[in-house]
Amino acid sequence: MTDLAQTVMERCDQLAVCSEEHGRITRPFASEAMRRAHDHVTEWMRHAGMEVRRDNIGNLRGRYAGTGEGTLLVGSHLDSVRDAGKYDGPLGVLVAIAAVQRLHDANRRLPFGVEVLAFADEEGLRFGSTYLGSRAVAGELDQDELRRTDADGVTMAEAIRAFGGDPAKLAADRWTGDRPLAYVEVHIEQGPVLESLGLPVGIVSAIAGQSRYEITFTGEAGHAGTVPMDRRRDALTAACEVVLGVETLAKTEDRMVATVGKLEVEPGAANVIPGRVTFTLDLRHPSDANRASASEAVLALAEKTAERRKLAVEIRPVSERAAVSCSPRVIALLRKAIGDGAVEVASGAGHDGVYMSEITDVGMLFVRCKGGISHHPAESVTAADVGVALDVLGRFLDLLAQP
Ligand code: HGY
Ligand code: MN
Ligand code: MN
Repeated sequence: MTDLAQTVMERCDQLAVCSEEHGRITRPFASEAMRRAHDHVTEWMRHAGMEVRRDNIGNLRGRYAGTGEGTLLVGSHLDSVRDAGKYDGPLGVLVAIAAVQRLHDANRRLPFGVEVLAFADEEGLRFGSTYLGSRAVAGELDQDELRRTDADGVTMAEAIRAFGGDPAKLAADRWTGDRPLAYVEVHIEQGPVLESLGLPVGIVSAIAGQSRYEITFTGEAGHAGTVPMDRRRDALTAACEVVLGVETLAKTEDRMVATVGKLEVEPGAANVIPGRVTFTLDLRHPSDANRASASEAVLALAEKTAERRKLAVEIRPVSERAAVSCSPRVIALLRKAIGDGAVEVASGAGHDGVYMSEITDVGMLFVRCKGGISHHPAESVTAADVGVALDVLGRFLDLLAQP
């Protein structure tokens, strides 16, 4: 294990306390917790010899100049889900900084610049829309998104402004130079494959597509003690039918995963019939065609349920991304960098590479995690495995630098 790997572990611990909630990790887009994380990461980037700037959406971008013109992009995201683990996102940012630190310590410049991207929002916790950071860099951020509101009614435009960005200038965040050499991301696997193979790292072959929706049933609130059962228009019981239908569908279709992760009941009192329920749907499948037909089936079920129960239903598509294959060129270089026993694994989780693939070749290196657990405080990686990932990234840089 290298000292730098240990530093990465300690820095993951330091970022873990940059949280909106005491005692657990919740670091949303453009939050005060994110500001504290940026203070640390800015310092670490500078210490590694990088010039640092924050763009309008709130990505932190550190550049380590090369002797030539090209740029390799390396990074991951700094935002988290609610009650997150320490490594989903920050690990990739910190390994990237450590790789640059190594170059800096050795007084080395590569023939290309290295830009470390610490993305502002990948999980979509605050505004329900994912990949804000990489979408801005890819030039795919729609101005309509700025009207989205968070749980407190703050619009995305206001949040960006409060964080120091200019929502009118998001187009300036777009990558405009020559096509980058590649975008490479180190990330915890978030699944059990590497652990079961006994391997510290693996190469990502492809990133699964995903569809997200927000569905609202509106019925009629009423007195829990007086409205007879046959006269109710209960929005929650309708939602429950759909939640169970989603589970059944995903269980009966091979490799399908579908999740209702958030459900809001209004007015939300023990003695009031639920009048309105809004819930999320996250649906994924390695095949885009299967994902599309499953989405249709769930939406049809929601409509049928509303009709039968005499409720109104509103279905809002939140995001939709096709599966992305990683670049064969980057995969080949990562294979060389790993050496014997390199394996490829598919990613069921989404990553910023999905959008970065619009501007360059994308590759990812997964790091084994304990029990495959992620999006949970028990996320765990070892310093030894982080050391392997750091060495692989270092060798990847050397290979890319070879004429
Ligand atoms: O939800 C995902 O797949 C990722 O962790 N953002
Ligand atoms: Mn995640
Ligand atoms: Mn992630």
